[in-house]
Amino acid sequence: MLLSNPEFVQNPYPIYSKLKKNRPLCFDEQTKSWLVLSVDIAKQIISNEEDFTCISAERLAKLGKGNSFFENFLKNWFLYQDKDKHRFFRRTVGAYFTPKKLVEIKGFIKEISESVLVELPPEEFNFITKYASRIAVEVLCKMLGVAKPDKSKITNLVNIMASFIYFPKEAKDIRKFSFGAEALHQYITEVIKEQNYTDNGVISYLIELQKKGAFTREEVIYNILLFFVAGAETPRSGITNCFVELQNDLKSQEAFLSNKEMQNNYVDEILRIEAPISYISRTNKKQEVINGITIPKGSHIVIMVNAVNHDTSLYSNPERIDFNRSKGKFYTFGDGIHSCLGYHLAKLEIEVALDTILSKYPNWKIDADRKWIPRFGLRTFEKLIVKQVD
Ligand code: HEM
Repeated sequence: MLLSNPEFVQNPYPIYSKLKKNRPLCFDEQTKSWLVLSVDIAKQIISNEEDFTCISAERLAKLGKGNSFFENFLKNWFLYQDKDKHRFFRRTVGAYFTPKKLVEIKGFIKEISESVLVELPPEEFNFITKYASRIAVEVLCKMLGVAKPDKSKITNLVNIMASFIYFPKEAKDIRKFSFGAEALHQYITEVIKEQNYTDNGVISYLIELQKKGAFTREEVIYNILLFFVAGAETPRSGITNCFVELQNDLKSQEAFLSNKEMQNNYVDEILRIEAPISYISRTNKKQEVINGITIPKGSHIVIMVNAVNHDTSLYSNPERIDFNRSKGKFYTFGDGIHSCLGYHLAKLEIEVALDTILSKYPNWKIDADRKWIPRFGLRTFEKLIVKQVD
């Protein structure tokens, strides 16, 4: 019961090191999955897209059996589609996520962060709901081009949908996820019907392509939902984890604020130390022998991102944050053809959100009793009560 063990979820690192030394590839009875803890095995799997597929629709469908909404969801997500369809969709929307394109919205991310900042309560508040989450949802709506987003409704629904990220997932997680996703599906359907979207966002672009026959209407809507699943909780968690680390180390915070060109590296290093998404799933199409162990065809393989990012063959003293270390590979955003499409956007959001709040208010009192979310999969805090101090 490793992955559901509350002690493990609060501090997985001692167990990661022990397992990595003795069993870097081990079978987890509870989830019937192979856990990967070392970087060399993770690399072998993620870089071999022919033999290790990301498509886990069949396994997930079993959990949501009889739930037609969820089945449709799995069928339409480009991430679970065959190679050519995946590549086509990724290339199409990828144009919105390049660093060049993002320069255009940097100013907007700043504006959003500043407007959220002025609304922060003067007394104690939950940093996640009052700051990080609001920025993540508003930036996403801007990218998609939702013209007049109902922000509190969307935030509420994406919070509900976060149960999709947990592992192991239970049938009740799928029910909860579907409840939120179905409501968001309805909302996005209305946005499209009423043309409540702007011309320069992802939605209008996809609708144009749909009119030309490249996608069906359902593919457009379900993949917009994918952006809400993949692109809201994750930057929210990234902003939160980075905020805590920079509060724990005020010297580094000072350096972060005074050296804008280095902000990118700071954020990378913190996201290496505490990756918000703790695992990446793959399924092997044929029997494999890895590290001398035979893995039967069709096995579920789980790459433990936070174990791999702390591998000593990648980094010396991997448990220590070192903003000056030379930048190496890390798996927080995955790798290969499924690597995070929103990587540059997420990094930019996190940098701007932190720079905005810490430039104005550098000193905070943070709840010492904060707890990590008690489920494996999404690694951030359940809540983060903070108060600004002079
Ligand atoms: C700190 C923030 C983020 C983290 C840690 C993160 C993490 C990841 C990881 C690990 C993957 C790879 C999954 C796999 O290989 O199975 C991924 C894929 C993806 N991410 Fe992110 N992500 C973040 C932010 C975002 C944002 C802001 C967006 C979009 C607005 C986004 C959209 C996507 C999409 C669409 C994919 C699937 C790509 C594909 O299959 O081709 N992500 N992300």
